[in-house]
Amino acid sequence: AKQHLIAPSILAADFAKLYDDIQMVNNSEADWFHIDIMDGVFVPNISFGFPVMQAIAKHAKKPLDVHLMIVDPDRYLKTCKDNGAAIITVHYEACTHLHRTLAGIKELGCKAGVALNPHTPVSLLKDVIQDIDLVCLMSVNPGFGGQKFIERTYSKIKELRALALQEGTDVMIEIDGGVGLGNASKLLAAGADVLVAGSFVFNSENPIETVKELKEVDPT
Ligand code: DX5
Ligand code: ZN
Repeated sequence: AKQHLIAPSILAADFAKLYDDIQMVNNSEADWFHIDIMDGVFVPNISFGFPVMQAIAKHAKKPLDVHLMIVDPDRYLKTCKDNGAAIITVHYEACTHLHRTLAGIKELGCKAGVALNPHTPVSLLKDVIQDIDLVCLMSVNPGFGGQKFIERTYSKIKELRALALQEGTDVMIEIDGGVGLGNASKLLAAGADVLVAGSFVFNSENPIETVKELKEVDPT
């Protein structure tokens, strides 16, 4: 089986000792940094913005996977790239002209991702899936870390795999929200490629070991 990726979410880091937490991710088996940017409009919370992301990029030794939970993300794609993004994920629900937005991300030289809220069906991606590198399935309502995983996600993963196959393309499937050792193996078995984990990693006794355990999970 293809090795899955682990993307610790910096939203759950201790912002008063962000450098230490960045080094933890650098020194772990994690593959990406998951960077959650919120605007207080698309989601009912505000996390941090581009100056903080730039500070993370300065020390990060792994790609930044940026999850934009903002309205009209076209306004910030260039800024996002200039501050270190390797992957830029926008929300389906926040883009009126998603096809154009995805082209804009690729023109910048970044990988293009689309995130779906829990209520948004995978089938809505049918006519744009060829243009997507990564689909982020939200397994909680975006805005906060530490929420309960929504079980419906497993069938969405399977539907998305089938849709990609039917359209003759391949996408990476990322799962974001409520992920931990309790559901990782079932998510991988359903077809997930990337697991985002925030509180499960940063609130654990030994985050480096926790990342290692997530990395070593086998699909069941
Ligand atoms: C939620 C964010 C997630 C969040 C996940 O809006 O998109 O990336 O950090 O946190 P956990 O893993 O604690 O659910
Ligand atoms: Zn996220």
